Amino acid sequence: MRTSDFLVIGSGVAGLSFALRAAKYGSVVVITKSSALESSSAKAQGGIAAVMDKDDSFKEHIEDTLVAGAGLCDESAVRVIVEEAPDAIRELLDWGVAFDQEENHHYELGREGGHSHRRILHAKDTTGLEISTKLLEAAKRSPNITLLEHHFAIDLITTGKLGLVTEDRVLGAYVLNRETGDVDIFRSDRVLLATGGTGRVYQYTTNPNSATGDGIAMAWRAGATISNMEFVQFHPTCFYNKRAEGAESRSFLISEAVRGEGGVLIGADGQEFMSRYDKRKSLAPRDIVARAIDSEMKRTGSPCVFVDISHKPEGFVEERFPLIYETCRKYGIDPAHEPIPVVPAAHYQCGGVLTDINGQSTLRGLFVAGETGCTGLHGANRLASNSLLECVVIAKRSLKSMLTKLPLGRGEPHEYPIPEWHHGDTALPDELAIIYHNWDEIRTLMQDYVSIVRTDKRLKRAAARLRMLHREVKEFYWGYRITPEILELRNLIAVASLIVDCAIRRKESRGLHYTSDYPAPAKDSAPSTIRRW
Ligand code: FAD
Ligand code: SIN
Repeated sequence: MRTSDFLVIGSGVAGLSFALRAAKYGSVVVITKSSALESSSAKAQGGIAAVMDKDDSFKEHIEDTLVAGAGLCDESAVRVIVEEAPDAIRELLDWGVAFDQEENHHYELGREGGHSHRRILHAKDTTGLEISTKLLEAAKRSPNITLLEHHFAIDLITTGKLGLVTEDRVLGAYVLNRETGDVDIFRSDRVLLATGGTGRVYQYTTNPNSATGDGIAMAWRAGATISNMEFVQFHPTCFYNKRAEGAESRSFLISEAVRGEGGVLIGADGQEFMSRYDKRKSLAPRDIVARAIDSEMKRTGSPCVFVDISHKPEGFVEERFPLIYETCRKYGIDPAHEPIPVVPAAHYQCGGVLTDINGQSTLRGLFVAGETGCTGLHGANRLASNSLLECVVIAKRSLKSMLTKLPLGRGEPHEYPIPEWHHGDTALPDELAIIYHNWDEIRTLMQDYVSIVRTDKRLKRAAARLRMLHREVKEFYWGYRITPEILELRNLIAVASLIVDCAIRRKESRGLHYTSDYPAPAKDSAPSTIRRW
């Protein structure tokens, strides 16, 4: 058993920024299931939103966030996160993060869809890598932080799961060491869950392999309340590689900042089409743009649309978007001189583990930050570049709240005997073939039945198939030796089921949830919640 004052699950911006602050107060163990930079955070391109310009205002950032959120944001959460943004940025700067500046040393602020002002701090088009690398370097320097890569959190340990009835709180997690195959108990009264999103539940996604919704699935199994899972954001512009070679190209993002700098969406006929859908054209919020692209592709039978930024002055694209430029070139497209083929792809989970504005979930001791959580900031649709901001602000508030609610140094509460992990010794025969087959099936059915445009019939079909897959995977999980692949499959089925159940219950179209059976928003609408009984 390994004991620490704080246990952090996940090494993205939420997990690492929390760890760096918590290390001032006690011992911190950070576990992460792959290498430390395998995260959505490290792939973030556009940047981080904050009011940093004298002509901008909190009021306008709040208003833009509420408009994108389509009536389901928690306004007080929006206010807190927007108003604490400049402090969050200052803290990132203290950790060594370097955002691009203009010659006059003012920050070069980018623009993205739904923002009424330029307010996106960025480091070229690799902002996430810049932030993640600097946080990781700082974490490695901290003597109070132990970072364990290739450690996979299987499930949370709670007093409820141990059979107690008078209280339910988190006691730590069972963790699989991928290198040794051992499962250990990681004991802590203060757990920060920061495992990122759920994009890998879909066939086409911008997300890294790690985004299998593990944290949401774990919290749900532990009895925490989950909210708003139907609001899956599809990014309008994921690179479309018609030659289909190169796994990396299939999930490569063409940042919204490209449209922010004047890139225009055009159809296969070379004509701009967004003005037929929204007066903000290519810079309308993502739900609107993704649906418009979906509709154009269906109308014309074209497998993709295009973003055209080739009208900018010579050298601009290479200088402002070096990663996008190089990656497109690698796959035969020169974005400085020709349009980039793009399709929508699953990008961001607006729902997650329900928390208050301090990251506290409904389970005592369990705090959640970043994409795994649902604070109410995003409502039915996230405004671009608000998520990295939420990671930093909520991680900070989580620590403050933990220190108040679960103070250190007053002696730990009563110890509970935690049973060692027991699992089957036999390997599942033909394990990988069966698992990959099931993965493909989930991803295809989510793509076909639960993506940008939904119907009751398709959702019910998805639910029926997921129920069967659930039974099969339960058998693998309990009957055989566990592997990361079995664990991820189990989590993918859980989060796919949460998405489908929330979607089935929402009898309206709002934000990212569009169903042709109920195409209008309902008069009374509320966030959805789901809990395991
Ligand atoms: P992540 O950064 O995804 O980190 C999760 C961590 O948890 C990883 O280390 C993972 O390995 C680990 N983990 C997962 N499961 C387990 C487990 N079972 N056990 C142990 N560890 C586990 N947002 C913006 O605001 N601006 C942008 O410009 C932007 N661009 C983006 C571009 C791309 C391509 C993508 C995919 C997303 C982008 N987003 C952007 C969204 C944003 O990057 C993410 O929402 C945010 O980084 C999530 O941070 P996180 O710390 O919550 O999770
Ligand atoms: C992008 O660069 O387009 C991604 C921004 C985001 O998801 O917030």
